[in-house]
Amino acid sequence: MPTDFAATRAQFDLPEGILYLDGNSLGPLPRNVAERLARTVTQEWGTMLITGWNKAGWMDLPTRIGDRIARIIGAEAGHVVLGDTLSIKVYQALASALEMNPRRKVILSDTGNFPSDLYMAEGLCRTLGDGYELRTVAPEEVADAIDDSVAVLMLTEVDYRTGRRHDMPALTAKAHDVGALAIWDLAHSAGATDVKVAEGGADFAVGCTYKYLNSGPGGPAFIYVAPRHAETVRPALSGWMGHEAPFAFDLSYRPGSGIERMRVGTPPILQLAALDAALDVWEGVEIADLRARSIELCEAFIAGVEARCPMLTLGSPRDPRQRGSQVSFRHPEGYAIMQALIARGVIGDFRAPDVLRFGFTPLYIGLDEVNAAVGILAEIMATDAWDTPEFKTRAKVT
Ligand SMILES: Cc1ncc(COP(=O)(O)O)c(C=O)c1O
Repeated sequence: MPTDFAATRAQFDLPEGILYLDGNSLGPLPRNVAERLARTVTQEWGTMLITGWNKAGWMDLPTRIGDRIARIIGAEAGHVVLGDTLSIKVYQALASALEMNPRRKVILSDTGNFPSDLYMAEGLCRTLGDGYELRTVAPEEVADAIDDSVAVLMLTEVDYRTGRRHDMPALTAKAHDVGALAIWDLAHSAGATDVKVAEGGADFAVGCTYKYLNSGPGGPAFIYVAPRHAETVRPALSGWMGHEAPFAFDLSYRPGSGIERMRVGTPPILQLAALDAALDVWEGVEIADLRARSIELCEAFIAGVEARCPMLTLGSPRDPRQRGSQVSFRHPEGYAIMQALIARGVIGDFRAPDVLRFGFTPLYIGLDEVNAAVGILAEIMATDAWDTPEFKTRAKVT
């Protein structure tokens, strides 16, 4: 059965008059989340109190939801777990991967990676000392920079600014050929593209849920560990929830079985409940259909903007196979242009120095919305409506 995108659209509450092209930053509210949260608060927390950990199944939520995400990222069931923020999961994967390759000291990444990933790697190198080093090259130079000095290749599959998509299977295979491990950050891939971590050979994958998976602001992150490492990986963040028997309260750490060991502390039950409800939208969605529709929307947007706004320069790869589900255009006054768009109800975002970002999320965006957004952008550019002091004043979050 082909995916019914009208049915998925009907499962979201989007405010009247808004064209939401920022689901790559914060997904909108699925209709059933408020009711599920209310139930978790009043019926579970409110009446079960601490017995909710057993009675309401709170303790199993991180792995139960992990299985739902596994389908979306092409992972084996039983090998994904939720918890913490993505920055923490990056650190956790990296620390474990480095320990698995003890004779090498180089983390290879690229300058298009999300800064938090690079910061976490820097901090870990500083803590480890002993010659550990983060090496970054331009995204297009990554393949050539994979050599036998590299311990771990750490990349974000889809670039947060440009939408450029790395070739996960090819780069992972190259890393493995030289004896390195590969960690993939799927923040801009999970729920956006046809990512296949198992087929792609990833050793570790991490990602957030508040973008394309719609868990809400600050929703928990996920981590995947390939089955071949599941029983040997040693978590550096060895918290009690990853212990083999958390309630034995032993004085020393013994890793839990498989992916359970990548849990750290008490899971955020309210946010997990929101995510669990948000994932219901995905039940009838075929990832191949999602990818095809996403490409159709991105292509229509690029064609429309290029035809009507010649002063904007495409900042994303032109070849859809090398793009995620977002499109960037560049302009020196990108910030003010985005503010003018937002004032007219078209919500995208801006990334320094000059990038206007637009995310295309087939679950709730169709060609009508794409065409309407192009029309509003064209009007703003034709009239210089962005050129006011009000639109040039920078807010804290861009
Ligand atoms: C690619 C990527 N990695 C890491 C992060 C950091 O995530 P968090 O703030 O949940 O730690 C983000 C946030 O947007 C991101 O886009």
